[in-house]
Amino acid sequence: MRHLRTIDDLGVDGIQRVLDLARDANSLPSLRGRAVASLFFESSTRTRLSFETAARRLSAEVLSLAPGVSSANKGESLRDTLLTVEAMGADVLVVRHARAGVPGRAAAWTSATVVNAGDGAHEHPTQALVDLFTLVTRLQISQGRGLEGLRIAIVGDVAHSRVARSGVRAFTALGAQVTLVGPPTLLPPGLETWPVEVAYELDEVLPKVDVVYLLRLQEERMQGALLPGRREYRARYGMTRERVARLGGDALVMHPGPMVRGLEIADEVAEDPRCVAREQAVHGVAVRMAVLSYLLEGGTGGRGV
Ligand code: NCD
Repeated sequence: MRHLRTIDDLGVDGIQRVLDLARDANSLPSLRGRAVASLFFESSTRTRLSFETAARRLSAEVLSLAPGVSSANKGESLRDTLLTVEAMGADVLVVRHARAGVPGRAAAWTSATVVNAGDGAHEHPTQALVDLFTLVTRLQISQGRGLEGLRIAIVGDVAHSRVARSGVRAFTALGAQVTLVGPPTLLPPGLETWPVEVAYELDEVLPKVDVVYLLRLQEERMQGALLPGRREYRARYGMTRERVARLGGDALVMHPGPMVRGLEIADEVAEDPRCVAREQAVHGVAVRMAVLSYLLEGGTGGRGV
């Protein structure tokens, strides 16, 4: 049974395989007769839409749970909810939850394949795969090649970011060098064990990187006053037009969405051709088709090995 709870469930070979399948997403074998349950216990736009679209394009059935109107808010335990969905025939549970570790529990409770669509501040592995796919497509990196030599700065609220945790694992697995940039209050403790460099000033890092990956300030997960103030945050870490001008000529700006324009990213930067946020959103469907196919067809894309 394959699951995608963290990027580490794939390893380098699995990551490369998913990227290869995503390049060829329109010729993936049909998943007719399979059912994918979309279980978003926390809000989502891109991730949910792209998972459901991906499942439908592969002709799978989609079971969709709207948390606001499900019995999850009548006191039913999460385990009972998941077991009910499994009993309705779901082969895959795509799970987003505000609590870290829920996808791991789901994999232990049920016999379905589990995909983590974001759990608390832990991981968001399919976002990292989308980001990798966006990079290899935009930079025209050929099949099977890594990201050796690519320098990526991940900027902002790393402490609360599952996107950053999965991104660091995925980018470094393929050979990129990652620098985390932010005020000390928004960087998590224990970074000495992460395979990254750390910097506190964006302006020092800008000329030295190929990719600036911006994170949203996840105030819904902040306890206490961690922010220096929005104005100061924008002044030190906001991606402004002036800062984009100081990037290398081929450098890219990334953002997983939702973007807060005027805070971590200026309006003009979001519209700049070097900002690939829209491509990230668009590639979400192909990459999630690849993930579903990889997990259900055993990584062969149905063609046998
Ligand atoms: C992110 C998430 O939900 O983790 N968005 C996404 O899935 N594209 C990032 C965020 O909420 O800031």
